[in-house]
Amino acid sequence: MSVHAADPSAGREESPVTTATPAPTLRMGVILASVREGRRGEAFARWILKLIAERPGVEPVLLDLRDHPLPAYVYPKTPTFIEGAYPDELPNRWARTVAALDGYVIVTPEYNHGYPGQLKNALDHVLKGWWYKPVGFVSYGGTGNGVRAVEQLRNVAVELRMVPVKGEVNIRLVDLATGENGEPTDPRYPRLAAAMLDQLLWWARAARQARSAEPPPA
Ligand SMILES: Cc1cc2nc3c(=O)[nH]c(=O)nc-3n(C[C@H](O)[C@H](O)[C@H](O)COP(=O)(O)O)c2cc1C
Repeated sequence: MSVHAADPSAGREESPVTTATPAPTLRMGVILASVREGRRGEAFARWILKLIAERPGVEPVLLDLRDHPLPAYVYPKTPTFIEGAYPDELPNRWARTVAALDGYVIVTPEYNHGYPGQLKNALDHVLKGWWYKPVGFVSYGGTGNGVRAVEQLRNVAVELRMVPVKGEVNIRLVDLATGENGEPTDPRYPRLAAAMLDQLLWWARAARQARSAEPPPA
């Protein structure tokens, strides 16, 4: 990333060759929401991880909810007061993992016209870790394509001060053509994923810069 206007050395004699500090790598989490045996979601999450890895300066990180089997929210205090200081290690580890990332893609199935309960539980255990970071969605469903799950997630994301991007990928499982790793092969899906990632990464860079310039409001 280049350095612009408010450069204190502006106007001074300097070498024609300037070295801009390279922007730190963006770390983007891909949340794999399904924990079901035989889940279809794993192939879609791995597909998105691969697409993110192809973007320069971006590191994808898999957040598989199987690795974060959080119990129900049982604490007497709300996350405003206890996030990261839970008396149990699992939610603390989850909160630390989330906080270390610059943005997220949630890969979710549609369960009964909503999204799975363990995903809501994982979202609820963190607060400031999500703040002012962008989120994109990849959904899928049997007869639907998961849009109903995403519509609900958008409301939750706003309450968590996240920035939900417009682009999304909604995969219809019925008659879905897949490649050898279970990734969708109809060209409209990679097209939709590329648009979603363009928006997500733009926001991730902008939001990271803005967060470091000024603490975001509550
Ligand atoms: C509890 C449950 C409820 C479901 N409800 C819906 C639904 O409302 N709409 C839909 O399109 N598919 C529904 N399905 C089908 C799932 O979207 C499909 O099985 C998908 O593969 C589940 O994701 P997973 O395999 O990654 O767990 C449901 C599946 C389960 C297990």
